[in-house]
Amino acid sequence: MKVKLLDRKINEIEADFEVILVVDKNLNHEFIKDTDKFALFNYKGEGNLLLAESGRLYIGVKALEYDRVRTALASAYNALKGYAIKNFKIAFYKCGCDRRSTMAMVEGVLLGGYEFNKYKSDKKSSSLNEILISTQEYSGEQIDLQKANFGIEQGAITASAANFARDGVNEIPEIYTPEKMASEAEILASNYDDVSVKIYDEDFLREQNMNAFLAVNRSSAHPPRLIHLIYKPQRCLKRVVFVGKGLTYDSGGLSLKPADYMLTMKSDKSGALAAMGIIKGAAELELPFEIHAVIGATENMIGGDSYKPDDVLLSRSGVSIEVRNTDAEGRLVLADCLSYAQDLEPDLLIDMATLTGACVVGLGEYTSGIMGNSEELKRKFKDLSGSSGELFSILEFNDYLRELIKSSIADVSNCASSRYGGAITAGLFLDKFIKDEYKGKWLHLDIAGPAYLEKAWGYYAAGATGAGVRASLYFLQALAKELKDA
Ligand code: BES
Ligand code: ZN
Ligand code: ZN
Repeated sequence: MKVKLLDRKINEIEADFEVILVVDKNLNHEFIKDTDKFALFNYKGEGNLLLAESGRLYIGVKALEYDRVRTALASAYNALKGYAIKNFKIAFYKCGCDRRSTMAMVEGVLLGGYEFNKYKSDKKSSSLNEILISTQEYSGEQIDLQKANFGIEQGAITASAANFARDGVNEIPEIYTPEKMASEAEILASNYDDVSVKIYDEDFLREQNMNAFLAVNRSSAHPPRLIHLIYKPQRCLKRVVFVGKGLTYDSGGLSLKPADYMLTMKSDKSGALAAMGIIKGAAELELPFEIHAVIGATENMIGGDSYKPDDVLLSRSGVSIEVRNTDAEGRLVLADCLSYAQDLEPDLLIDMATLTGACVVGLGEYTSGIMGNSEELKRKFKDLSGSSGELFSILEFNDYLRELIKSSIADVSNCASSRYGGAITAGLFLDKFIKDEYKGKWLHLDIAGPAYLEKAWGYYAAGATGAGVRASLYFLQALAKELKDA
């Protein structure tokens, strides 16, 4: 897909189709043709109106906001992709800053156009591969063309980082094993000079006393992998470590999931793929941070050698864990990975995981939970990632909930004694593995809701969304700017 900015009036641009966003009541805008007025008369400014004869597609948008523009551009692309056209033109729509406005337009098209059709015999291809944006149709203040052009480049990077994560999450569990994840990480690293990777196997996990991680893997036919990707540019403002839950399949283990709940559990590797997507995006955006992705990759299966409810595991950090439910496996893998990650002495430590069904129940399918000990850091992540359109809600820790993960036999239980507050008690479990000096530098993102959709939503088709990738890239980009300006 090519997206070009043209410093010309829209009527002077040659294109096969024209897309017009109908923002609230701008129906009398000068570039709306007289011949369209009749059709538009009854149009409420909601949904799409395709006027094939005049080669125009009108799309209703409630307000000029980044995420509404993403959705509008996705819906424009999807409405037109089936026609024998090669391009469409559209005016520049300013939502906030010029850079992020074009970023949103490009992301809308690329995220909206994403399909996982590898296993379909009938793959439809589209001739629509060019979008022309007129920068002279906007009547407000002067557009900064350099920034708008930057936005086009960066939107393509952030969207393809998210789509990379989606491809991995959507891949089937038969193919996408921990070893496959490791080889994908190697390919990723080989594509960039400043990205390197280390892959560790079972022997290393044993040497490192990562017994919680190993227990989860025990009855899987596929060996586990600890994947450590590093993006290290010349100039680094801070060291940021992302930790990703990489359950390539979560059957629940002996605490087996009911059939309906097991379905979609190939998506339990979404945190891992988000971390890989962030490395890809950061390398292409040339972000001024040293960024690590630490990924715990394993399946959670069932068999004669399964770890059991009643077992006690001695984790890498020395904290002992009573297993009360083998389906609360993500926190076991993360406990050991977080311990490893803190040895890297991060300035910022962020884990991403499809950790709890409770988070989906509490926040709905579209919103991720943010947890941690620093009010300022939680707020900052939410605010600085805001224009990505990814939704986050802060969930607060408290000491009453902390009581619920106490164990009578070990230092902590992997399953809370109450079924209420499950997203937070999982976050509090992870907190047990965060050393005092990193308490205020750590964030836990529970992406269980938005990582994988059973129904299409906004600009996302059903399936993986790449949750966490763009939010983190927007956050890091804004953080870099803040640090440079200070
Ligand atoms: N991978 C699941 C969480 C999940 C559920 C992600 C639904 C996406 C959609 C996780 O490993 C899990 O099974 N958690 C249990 C924890 C419980 C046993 C304490 C849960 O949420 O039910
Ligand atoms: Zn589970
Ligand atoms: Zn899981």
